[in-house]
Amino acid sequence: MSENPIILGIETSCDETAISLIQDNQSGIPRILSNIISSQIDVHKEFGGVVPELAARSHSEKINLIAEKAIADSKISLDKISAVAATAGPGLVVCLTVGLNFGKALASSLEIPFIGVNHLEGHALSPKLQEKIEYPYLLLLISGGHSQFLSVNGLGNYKRLGTTIDDALGEAYDKTAKLLGIEFPGGPKLEKFAEKGDPNKFKLPKPIINKGGCNMSFAGLKTAILRITKSISCDQERFDLAACFQKTIEEILYTKSEIAIDEFCKINSINHSSFIVAGGVAANKGIRKKLIEISKKKKFHPIFPDLKLCGDNAAMIAMVGLEKFKVKNFDSLDLAASPRLALDKNAKFLKGAGVKL
Ligand code: KG4
Ligand code: ZN
Repeated sequence: MSENPIILGIETSCDETAISLIQDNQSGIPRILSNIISSQIDVHKEFGGVVPELAARSHSEKINLIAEKAIADSKISLDKISAVAATAGPGLVVCLTVGLNFGKALASSLEIPFIGVNHLEGHALSPKLQEKIEYPYLLLLISGGHSQFLSVNGLGNYKRLGTTIDDALGEAYDKTAKLLGIEFPGGPKLEKFAEKGDPNKFKLPKPIINKGGCNMSFAGLKTAILRITKSISCDQERFDLAACFQKTIEEILYTKSEIAIDEFCKINSINHSSFIVAGGVAANKGIRKKLIEISKKKKFHPIFPDLKLCGDNAAMIAMVGLEKFKVKNFDSLDLAASPRLALDKNAKFLKGAGVKL
């Protein structure tokens, strides 16, 4: 085994088949040896969303090839790998199972430890592939399935400060994009539309902006947009509506991040730290700009993962695998997929009509 541990990470929780090898480094920032991501956008495009059975089949068809490419790119031989880490949840069970089974078989044949990883913890630790970050830090996780503020107190140690009470932010982007006639997945293209529009043309609601602490709500925005789309007739108005949606999201995140920073400081008895924004939506340039502004105002250090590490990838899974490897937190080969894994297991379920904030 080489001196610095090498972890092979596997991600198949949704519609990306990804495998990456990373190696620990004296600098404290692990080196990414390879990071292969194969997206299934073309498989699901015509259905306007991810079809679980098609996604699972595509993972099964591609995973061998992706593994071969990741290992070849890393230029290391199989016997140098210290452990295999695979996403165990949350996600689509049929998809998770493909990566888990592949990872278990590989770990077993190489006679090395197997580590199950919470996909959300992957996003939470993803910036550690770029920069040394001390615990505790504040995390805003914004992806297709989750929108949460968390105090990250250590590996496996999370306190949720706020969450969406309805749609996840990525979901809100994708649904709004669909209403504007943008094909799936709409988030990145909606951002491009917004650049061509007037952000002050339409007034959109900011649900629960003045209540519920740093909890968030995005479903009302979609309803308002649906109403407006019925009366718009030209491309320019679609660009304007995209720009108004983008601006409203930026303002909601600015306000809610300020509240989250205050709550973080209160529970950790400190007045500055890092503010990490991770998950697919963290690729959005407008959101980045606005969250840098609030970080500066509150004297927090803003950190965003590189674009390649924002969306689903396996380097972030290997990153968690590496931290777990160092404390010998291994799993047995009968670990099952967990579609509903959370980061803060004690946090209350806060979703649906009638939720008390
Ligand atoms: O983290 P991720 O790759 O997958 C999940 O774990 O959900 O996030 C995917 C989400 C999608 O909803 C996608 O539309 C959104 O991230 N997204 C964006 C942008 N890039 C990806 N949303 C807004 N602006 C972007 N630039
Ligand atoms: Zn994700």
